[in-house]
Amino acid sequence: MKSLIASLCICLCVYTLQARPDLHKKPTRILVLFHTTSGGTWKLAQAIAAGITQQGATAVLKQVPAIDKNIANAAPGVPYADVAELPQYDGIAFGSAVHFGNMTAAMRLFLDGTVDHWTHHRLEGVPATVFMSAGSGAGREAAILSFWNTLAVHGMVIVPTGIMGAATLQKNIAQGNTVFGATSLASMPGSARPSASELEQATLQGAALARVAIALAAVPRTVQTSTPVATTDSIAIRMNRAGIVLPPVPAPAGNYKPFTRAGNLVYINQVALKEGSILHPGIVEKEISVADATAATRQTMLNVLAVLQAACDGDLSRVKQCVQLTGFFNTAPGFKDHAKLMNAASDLTVAVFGDKGKHARATVGAASLPVNSSVEIQAVFEIE
Ligand SMILES: Cc1cc2nc3c(=O)[nH]c(=O)nc-3n(C[C@H](O)[C@H](O)[C@H](O)COP(=O)(O)O)c2cc1C
Repeated sequence: MKSLIASLCICLCVYTLQARPDLHKKPTRILVLFHTTSGGTWKLAQAIAAGITQQGATAVLKQVPAIDKNIANAAPGVPYADVAELPQYDGIAFGSAVHFGNMTAAMRLFLDGTVDHWTHHRLEGVPATVFMSAGSGAGREAAILSFWNTLAVHGMVIVPTGIMGAATLQKNIAQGNTVFGATSLASMPGSARPSASELEQATLQGAALARVAIALAAVPRTVQTSTPVATTDSIAIRMNRAGIVLPPVPAPAGNYKPFTRAGNLVYINQVALKEGSILHPGIVEKEISVADATAATRQTMLNVLAVLQAACDGDLSRVKQCVQLTGFFNTAPGFKDHAKLMNAASDLTVAVFGDKGKHARATVGAASLPVNSSVEIQAVFEIE
């Protein structure tokens, strides 16, 4: 009885994971990227991260490399960010010391390295917020607003703080709270800085950013490129127009993974599985018609694309090209129309990806194929 219940539980888990691909989704990841010279911005960054974590998102704390290498690192142990990684995140909280009513030169230099992201629209629609550590606070609001200019040019979704934390603000000392983002008044007397209220506003700011990032992570990012190629939206629209609906990712039937990634290449192998059984099994032209084998080929390629989507974390716009498709067909000796059958897979790939879907191709006749599938497809894609 116990083993029967255990088997039922395992079956239920496997079924749930197959039928609910959303359960494979990664948690929302938010970068907290800062530059500090004496540690104040780092303390605010930790409060921002706490707010992000409170909402169930993952906060990744990183700092911007200093320009003046003679100044000791005020946030030892915090890894340095690479400009290239920015588009990976679902949101970014930017923090900087206030220098002459502006962000620091190190932060400016780092952001000046994002031109390639800008021209490829990679940060468009990504939620962002700004927090800063000041001295007296002179020009701190102007500093946040001028920081926002860069984020606006990137098309990021800017999250302000409004009057968050105002209800519990300790009013007997000067506080850095602004409606644009948390700041700290590091050189003002009356409290260790950042003050409890300044840290509280930063925590609320992190939480506000996380809520927006979590919500937006559920929809595809509008990514446009400077060349007229497929985008997230155009892929979705094209698939919709063509009536292409991807099935759930088929679970592996043995000791292997649905895909492997080596560098930027993704390797996928699928058969004609549909809703738990093989569509049109058997030998082409002997046990099944060419029309049935064509339908099985299309189903096999749909399975490949479902796996590919999982490999891209749900974002097919990350596909740079279909490198190669190889089709194996269960055929009797003398069969010659492998290429015609394979067109069902090739046409589907081009329908989804446009020019990026054009590929090198091989087709092979086989005396038998696993689980009596009439077709098996091996696919290699290059992704970002
Ligand atoms: C070059 C320079 C310019 C500064 N400009 C301002 C300023 O315009 N307004 C202000 O309130 N504080 C200013 N400060 C003070 C810093 O913002 C303050 O020390 C801050 O807390 C540093 O942040 P950090 O601890 O994260 O390095 C300036 C400091 C330096 C070194």
